Amino acid sequence: MHKNIKYNSFCICPSILSANLATLGEDVNRVILAGADRIHIDVMDNHYVPNLTFGPIICKSLIKFGIKIPIDIHLMAKPVELLIKRSIEAGANGIIFHPECSQNVDKSLDLIKRANCQSALAINPATSLNSIIDFLDKCDKIVLMAVNPGFENQKFIPETFNKIKKLKILLQNFKKYKNIPIEIDGGVKYQNIKKIANFGVNSFVIGSEIFHNKNYHHIMKKLRKKLEN
Ligand code: DX5
Ligand code: ZN
Repeated sequence: MHKNIKYNSFCICPSILSANLATLGEDVNRVILAGADRIHIDVMDNHYVPNLTFGPIICKSLIKFGIKIPIDIHLMAKPVELLIKRSIEAGANGIIFHPECSQNVDKSLDLIKRANCQSALAINPATSLNSIIDFLDKCDKIVLMAVNPGFENQKFIPETFNKIKKLKILLQNFKKYKNIPIEIDGGVKYQNIKKIANFGVNSFVIGSEIFHNKNYHHIMKKLRKKLEN
C-alpha cells in the first residue's frame, strides 16, 4: 500500500497518543498518506509516568492492519526490560527508553541492537545529559523530552533549547557521534517547529498538532513547508 515511501530530510513522527483510538488503523493510514515518516507509540505504565496507555501489542496490530512505515515504541515504563522484549516481538523498528528505567542501560541497548532494531535513549527535562554519555556508541538517535512525559498537548519547556545546544556540543566533541540524529518529543507545534529545527534537530514527535486537526494533509504540508523554507 505504501510502497513509494519518500524519505524526507526532516523526520516527522506522529504520536498516536492523540489519534482516534477507536479507529486507529484508519487514522494511522490517513496520517501516512499525508506524509508521516514514522509512527510513534507512547507506552505509559501509571508508575514511571502518571498515565496509563497501551502496550507494544498496538504495534503488532498496526502491522497486521497493513501499516508499512517504521514504528517507534517509546517506553515510559519501569522496569523496562521485559517491555523491550515485547516491543521487539511486536515488530517495532525503533525502541526508545529512559535510562532511569533500566537496571542496566548497556544491556538494554544491546538487547535492542541484537534484534536489529534502532535504539534511542530519551532524556527528561530534569535528567542530565551525563546519563547518556557512556552509551552513545549504542544509540541510533537521542530523544530530548521537551515536556515531562505523560500527556499529550503540553507546553514546550523553553529550557529545552539550552539542552539541545549542550547536546550538540557534546556530540560534536566526539567526532564519530556528531551525526547522531536528535529528536524532540513533546510540545512541537507549527509555531515553534522551525525554531527547534534551527537548533539542529532532525526529527519531531508530534501528537496533538497533527491529530487534533481535521485535515492531516493540510497540517503535514504546512509543517513540512515551514521546516524546508
Ligand atoms: C509525552 C509523549 C509524547 C506526546 C506528544 O509524554 O511522549 O509523544 O504524545 O504529544 P504533543 O505533540 O501533543 O505534545
Ligand atoms: Zn513519546
